[in-house]
Amino acid sequence: GELGGRDEYSLVEAIKQGEEPCYAGVPMSSILEQGFGVGDIISLLWFKRSLPRYCTKFIEICIMLCADHGPCVSGAHNTIVTARAGKDLVSSLVSGLLTIGPRFGGAIDDAARYFKDAYDRGLTPYEFVESMKKKGIRVPGIGHRIKRGDNRDKRVELLQEFARTNFPSVKYMEYAVQVETYTLTKANNLVMNVDGAIGSLFLDLLAGSGMFTKPEIDEIVEIGYLNGLFVLARSIGLIGHTFDQKRLKQPLYRHPWEDVLYTK
Ligand code: ACO
Ligand code: LMR
Repeated sequence: GELGGRDEYSLVEAIKQGEEPCYAGVPMSSILEQGFGVGDIISLLWFKRSLPRYCTKFIEICIMLCADHGPCVSGAHNTIVTARAGKDLVSSLVSGLLTIGPRFGGAIDDAARYFKDAYDRGLTPYEFVESMKKKGIRVPGIGHRIKRGDNRDKRVELLQEFARTNFPSVKYMEYAVQVETYTLTKANNLVMNVDGAIGSLFLDLLAGSGMFTKPEIDEIVEIGYLNGLFVLARSIGLIGHTFDQKRLKQPLYRHPWEDVLYTK
């Protein structure tokens, strides 16, 4: 179990006696001896099990590709403004993190929920997208401010390429690609974004790895573990933006009037 097969009392005793700490029952020394990486640590601490190498590598690729997307996106902007207001690292970081949500970086769980539901119910991409439109809900994982059908997101391509080569099945991803093919017939900005790529591919990881039961997959999707990947990844970039502002001794930020001035 989570206590490494011991009851709480014997675990507390073991810690008191200086026994080495464990992640989900795996001792630190073993983690280092086996050459585990961050993907393995996430597997142990979030999913409470060791996952095959291609899964942990995929988790690491998600973290690396989502670490930063420049200073102009919502999260980095907030972090930069906060750092330039003289606030500390933690304040600057959380100011940026607080923008992560349904429009920015936090659409992974909903993308997984909606793609899973639509695929499992056998909806065609047309039926799925049109039913979302009727409900007035934007398809999570679809759409981007900058990326277009003729200027795809390289991160999405890289994630898909890795999965096509290494995953036993990419059925959810292929479904999301079909959804994208349909949405692109409606508007050129309705491309699959990183949230959609990670959401659909994580469904393939959960279902295809043989490491999770069906109820466990349902629970992970329902609780919403996957936005955690973006939160964790983007923290790396936001911390970097904070240091950049401090190192460059940037003054208090004031937004240009003409950008926000509005009339009734
Ligand atoms: N599903 C259906 N229609 C959409 C979607 C979508 N996901 N996204 C945009 N549209 C439609 C809009 O309804 C709009 O049409 P309308 O004016 O007739 O209503 C048109 O496309 C243009 O929409 P904008 O609001 O101009 O698009 P914008 O560039 O502001 O939005 C955004 C980008 C926020 C990502 C949007 O596409 C969206 O909400 N997507 C779903 C949430 C999502 O996946 N977010 C993660 C983005 S990736 C990341 O942050 C790392
Ligand atoms: C990001 O990774 O921050 C985004 O895809 C959002 C954006 O506007 O680039």
